[in-house]
Amino acid sequence: MKVKIQQGRIEKFACDLLVVKWVMGQKMDGSTGAVDKALRGLISKAMKEDGRFKGKEGDVLVFPIHDKRIAAKRIMLLGLGEQKNVTVDCVRRSAARIVKEARKCRAKRVATILIGTGTAGIDPFTAAKAMTEGALLGGYVYHKYKSEEAREEAAFPGEFVMMTAGVHEKAVFHNPSAPTPPNLPSGRGGKLGGEALKIREAERGVKEGELYAQATIFARELVNEPASNMVPKTLADTARGLAKGVSGIAVKILNRGQCEKLGMGAYLGVAKGSDHEPYFIHLVYKPSGSNHKSQITNHKLERIAIVGKGITFDSGGLSLKPSQHMETMKLDMAGCAAMLGVFSVIAKLKPNVEVHGISAVCENMPSGRAQKPGDIVRTVSGKTIEVLNTDAEGRLTLADAFGYVNKFVKPDAMVDLATLTGACMVALGEEVAGYMGNDRALLDSVKKAAESAGERAWELPLVEEYKEQTKSHVADFSNITPSRYAGAITAGLFLEHFVDKTPWVHVDIAGPAFAEKEVIPYNPRGATGFGVRMMLELLKQCDFQGKN
Ligand code: BES
Ligand code: ZN
Ligand code: ZN
Repeated sequence: MKVKIQQGRIEKFACDLLVVKWVMGQKMDGSTGAVDKALRGLISKAMKEDGRFKGKEGDVLVFPIHDKRIAAKRIMLLGLGEQKNVTVDCVRRSAARIVKEARKCRAKRVATILIGTGTAGIDPFTAAKAMTEGALLGGYVYHKYKSEEAREEAAFPGEFVMMTAGVHEKAVFHNPSAPTPPNLPSGRGGKLGGEALKIREAERGVKEGELYAQATIFARELVNEPASNMVPKTLADTARGLAKGVSGIAVKILNRGQCEKLGMGAYLGVAKGSDHEPYFIHLVYKPSGSNHKSQITNHKLERIAIVGKGITFDSGGLSLKPSQHMETMKLDMAGCAAMLGVFSVIAKLKPNVEVHGISAVCENMPSGRAQKPGDIVRTVSGKTIEVLNTDAEGRLTLADAFGYVNKFVKPDAMVDLATLTGACMVALGEEVAGYMGNDRALLDSVKKAAESAGERAWELPLVEEYKEQTKSHVADFSNITPSRYAGAITAGLFLEHFVDKTPWVHVDIAGPAFAEKEVIPYNPRGATGFGVRMMLELLKQCDFQGKN
């Protein structure tokens, strides 16, 4: 799908579907009013006749038109809810709804206004970026294994056009009591001026939105791939592919023997039961130029590590999961996929910080060679872990990944993304990630990044008093706790033992990494790519130097 910004009057634009918005309680004015006027009140009439369209968020009214005064074939009226509800994420959701509706009526070309820039006061860059993300992510379908017919649908719409100037702004000018927006020329028929800037900003938003969506889809494709085709080697090859021929990105893949030499007993313990070889991924992006001291909140940040949990399939190992819990366990490499998603666009965005992408990739399987409950493993750090439940495997692989990072990367900040605990889903549900960490400034930066990305995350406390539960009487630590309570937090406390002094945030994405049903219109069923845009926003806090 091609996403475009175009200047002009929306009612003059030739397209298959023309979308106008409706905010609850609004008058028939602005762009919607202008189209209604051009159609001699057809929208008002359709609203009245339908009776159900109230303008609630997601309310949709679509009708064909055969009127020469307007160049579109169909009109769609889209509800945005109440004025106060028109947030950046509402804009993102709305763009996704437009694409879905366009697909339903097989519209090749859909045109809409730049939602949110009018009365909601969202700047054109942010609105265009959110709409681009919403359109591309909402239009995503995993159709690799579908018949030709099902694939055809995904080709609609081919073009998603956002109109910037025209009726709405003109309507503002017509209204003598309304103030002239600061970036627009005053008076009717004025030359571009602020409008040119608005278009440039919107175009920049489209470009960044495209990259963010592309990275998210990159992660989705990896997670959606069935686990029999997505084995550790597949991810290692993907990482190699991301570095190949791209200046600024380097990759190192460690095999089992090399990991053994480094003393990654916890990681290799998990990998033992599988017929597939484990591979440890280390990607590095270096910004060009030597003077790259960036600032995240009050951190001087030169080097950041993103660690992704990379279990290509989590059967639970010998502590086998019940079959229902296993159905979606191809998702257990979503953290790694998100990290790879970030690297798929990093050389274009050019953040002003050195970024290390780390993942200890393996498969958690039962077999005659599998590790057994009661085994004790030694990590890179030298600390030992009693493995009482082989299904708490993520924290074992992360313990060694963290040990490696401390030894060889020594970053100023480390963020891990992991589908770590069912307990986090019990606490926060499927839409919200839980995050926790040891550094207030970094925690706040992650929060800010999540908010700008429209990815929901809630901080959980690393309760010092619970730490006792992570100890073992035969090893330094145990991979499960005696109590069932606060499982997401105790997993975080376990991880903290392997962090050292590095400022660190752990993001438990077990819930939002995978949508079992569609709740958010830009997250269709299946992998969501959660974490990609949050990490890109975090890197953006260190400045993007990419030209767009
Ligand atoms: N991969 C799972 C966590 C998970 C569950 C992710 C559901 C996504 C959806 C993890 O390895 C796991 O099995 N955790 C156990 C830990 C327990 C044994 C302490 C869990 O949450 O049940
Ligand atoms: Zn598990
Ligand atoms: Zn797992």
